[in-house]
Amino acid sequence: MADENATLRIGDETWEFPIRSGSVGPDVMDIGTLYKHTDRFTFDPGFTSTASCESNITYIDGDAGILLHRGYAIDDLAEHGDFLETCHLLLYGELPTPAQKKDFEERVTYHTMLHDQMTRLYSGFRRDAHPMALMVGVVGALSAFYHDSTDITDPEQRDIASLRMIAKMPTIAAMAYKYTVGQPFVYPRNDLGYAANFLQMCFAVPAEDYKVNPVMARAMDRIFVLHADHEQNASTSTVRLAGSSGANPFACIAAGIACLWGPAHGGANEAALNMLHEIGTPDRIPEFIARAKDKNDPFRLMGFGHRVYKNYDPRAKIMQQTCHEVLNDLGITDDPILDVAMELEKIAVEDPYFKERGLYPNIDFYSGITLKALGFPTDMFTVLFSLARTVGWIAQWREMIEDPRQKIGRPRQLYTGETHRDYVPVDKRK
Ligand code: SDX
Repeated sequence: MADENATLRIGDETWEFPIRSGSVGPDVMDIGTLYKHTDRFTFDPGFTSTASCESNITYIDGDAGILLHRGYAIDDLAEHGDFLETCHLLLYGELPTPAQKKDFEERVTYHTMLHDQMTRLYSGFRRDAHPMALMVGVVGALSAFYHDSTDITDPEQRDIASLRMIAKMPTIAAMAYKYTVGQPFVYPRNDLGYAANFLQMCFAVPAEDYKVNPVMARAMDRIFVLHADHEQNASTSTVRLAGSSGANPFACIAAGIACLWGPAHGGANEAALNMLHEIGTPDRIPEFIARAKDKNDPFRLMGFGHRVYKNYDPRAKIMQQTCHEVLNDLGITDDPILDVAMELEKIAVEDPYFKERGLYPNIDFYSGITLKALGFPTDMFTVLFSLARTVGWIAQWREMIEDPRQKIGRPRQLYTGETHRDYVPVDKRK
């Protein structure tokens, strides 16, 4: 609903563009007709000032450090809820009733197994491949096995594809882990909850019974909740753009996984733990703080800063609490890397360079320490992020597909290359 207009004046010409307000957050100027009327584009590399879509799934207030999923604060969902009810909320817009929760959990549980022929895909990879390479490959290959849920125009098929993605990601991720450590695959079990099932698929071995530690399962589930969705981040925007061409949902999620892999995005949890290990001891922190400020040094504090949060990432606070809970439960009272992380945070958040730029710990700063304590190797951290974020990608993809105004995403450019040149035959070139 247009509330007022924005006026653009260039020379003696003026144009009016409607300003629209959301339920909360910044207004937008609807410039969809800008090129048609002015023969000019906007220019916004990195989309720092661009709203790419209208959505009612997740809202972030970067200055206040607030994250809402369908209006519910991440703090409440992480503390009082669980991952599958968060999935229901993100997909269908409401927290489930007891009957809906039971039905949703059952529907997910009975989709956790993979087509058995897919297990052979793994053997085509080197054992020392990064597990994210396996995730991109195997998830993309789902469309070669589940043809009955690739017709994006059929709401039924969209729903089955959504459930299959949420249900099968833990199985695919656990198999990626088992393959890289040379252990046999462990199949999902229908008598375990979502996070517990994932832990047993990762850490059970045929040689003995495996008992899931309930504290670890609760921590794993909460970590999944914290990573579930996050508005129009790079990987979600990738999924939306891929989906705007009509590509099948499995291919779109594989594209999202590929984008998440980068160290500036989901790969930061792996990079942050590697950085903490490189720092090693608190006395080396000043050296790394200086490097992070040095414009001639590409080094950045991994797990710090965010495009939207210019305050503390609310997920980082919950992750830090979870980290302490897991370490305490495991009896790890003197983790030197945690000491480095807490000292680094203390110094950085007081440093004018970081304060002026609104650089605070983000979700990736403490997640690595927690995941390592849960028994995962560093190269599995982004895999776990992609497992949890799948529901967010799927929810955003569905919203885009179901939007009657949806069209293929096709940005333009500011061209600064060569203008026309005549062709020169190769024997005439110097
Ligand atoms: C995730 O978008 C999402 O929502 C992502 C995510 C999700 O849930 O989907 O939240 C998950 O990706 C979290 C972010 C994980 N990435 C990292 O921790 C990598 C380290 N962080 C940076 O690379 C950076 O902060 C970004 C990429 C996260 C954000 O970069 P922006 O918004 O493009 O900011 P910028 O590069 O323009 O930086 C602004 C200033 C610059 O200095 P000046 O040019 O103003 O002097 O801050 C500096 C930057 O040099 N800066 C940092 C820094 N991050 C920004 N300086 C040192 N260390 C850092 N980490």
